[in-house]
Amino acid sequence: MRQEMTRKLSKFLVTGGKELQGKIDVSGAKNAVLPIIAASLLTSDKIILEEAPELLDVQVMGQVIESLGGKVKRNGKKLHISTKEIMSIETPFDLISKMRASIVIMGPMLARKGRVRISHPGGCAIGSRPINWHLKGLECLGAQVRMDHGFLDVSASRLKGAKIYLDFPSVGATENIMMAASCAEGTTIIENAAQEPEIVDLANFINEMGGKIRGAGTNIVYIEGVKELHGTTHTVIPDRIEAGTFILMAAASGGEVLVRNVIPAHLKPLLAKLDEAGVIFREEDDGIRVIGKGCYNAVDIKTQVHPGFPTDLQAPILAMLTRAKGTAVITETVFENRFMHVDELKRMGADIKIEGRSAIVQGIENMNAATVVASDLRAGAALILAALTANGTTDIRDIHHIDRGYENLDLKLRSLGAEITRVE
Ligand code: UD1
Repeated sequence: MRQEMTRKLSKFLVTGGKELQGKIDVSGAKNAVLPIIAASLLTSDKIILEEAPELLDVQVMGQVIESLGGKVKRNGKKLHISTKEIMSIETPFDLISKMRASIVIMGPMLARKGRVRISHPGGCAIGSRPINWHLKGLECLGAQVRMDHGFLDVSASRLKGAKIYLDFPSVGATENIMMAASCAEGTTIIENAAQEPEIVDLANFINEMGGKIRGAGTNIVYIEGVKELHGTTHTVIPDRIEAGTFILMAAASGGEVLVRNVIPAHLKPLLAKLDEAGVIFREEDDGIRVIGKGCYNAVDIKTQVHPGFPTDLQAPILAMLTRAKGTAVITETVFENRFMHVDELKRMGADIKIEGRSAIVQGIENMNAATVVASDLRAGAALILAALTANGTTDIRDIHHIDRGYENLDLKLRSLGAEITRVE
């Protein structure tokens, strides 16, 4: 409890004006490793995950597995997972409430034990975030869903392949269905499936375990159920959102940074917009080099599902555009309430108006340091980006949100010359 409080009271002090310089390595992808840890429940054999980022969210997912009876051990960048014995089918409220993404254990637990009880995840800072499409998909495979004193009780005596059309290409719903269907009888077809690179990584992982998934990365995924899956060692893909955040920070600071361990194809929607804004970058053998000049042209952005512009980079690019030449219109179409960073950026002097689902950003010359609060993970990254270019020292509160999804962000930024201190 005390540790939790200390964590919540931690803050970053960031003094602006330093150009970032040097090389930085991107960690394994948070949004890929979380469902992959859940998918390790599909086998009783050992799983080894390489390039598993050391993040709060990864710790929580490990605790979820342990709460069910599994074992998770970290050895450097490797995670060793064993779910030989699953003694429980219920995940405590505290874990689900800490991390919404833990709902992806529903699919694999149904496949493994035929039943799972999780506390209903509810909403979060960026919207009400229902899970109706997860449940609809699992029901199509033969599951029954009951609400019981705040718990979702999902059970299936047998899972049977089905054709499932998703009303929207939800990332989490596609993952839950893929995992449940991997061990169902017959073939499942997910139409209007999410196409994010993290879906492809999950499908690759399941196939390495002996699964039969085709089409991941397109909008139709075919999953042929198999009797049994086996253990494997898998390397998690690099985090495209972390890579994008460093690229934006380097560009905004006006420095020159080589961002290594990236898959450029995953960054296309960001790079296309940066090109339009006048940011100079080039692909090299071992990464993407950004040659920043600090100030760019305003560009309009509309977040979309992959391969559109990722909602997870909306806050960081908005922060960069606060100092652009002209007016940028940034429209959020994926989440209903993802402009919590705007009021904080306004405290630093930004000129932004919200109209419906759009933020109208009028570029200004300079931002000024202030005390600001990180309302969620990506909002926190946006505030650090703004602080790196602001006059004075910005005090960023509630940084436990940032630790959920960026591995050693302060250490990495310091290695590039940023003036950022963590105050516990
Ligand atoms: C994942 C990512 C998150 C990213 C998001 C969109 C993880 C751990 N998180 O979240 O970082 O921002 O994809 O790229 O991978 N929705 C419903 N009903 C449902 C499911 C979703 O209405 O059953 C809505 C959500 O409220 C949201 C939209 O659909 O408005 C997109 O959600 P989804 O694609 O499911 O995102 P997540 O999997 O939660």
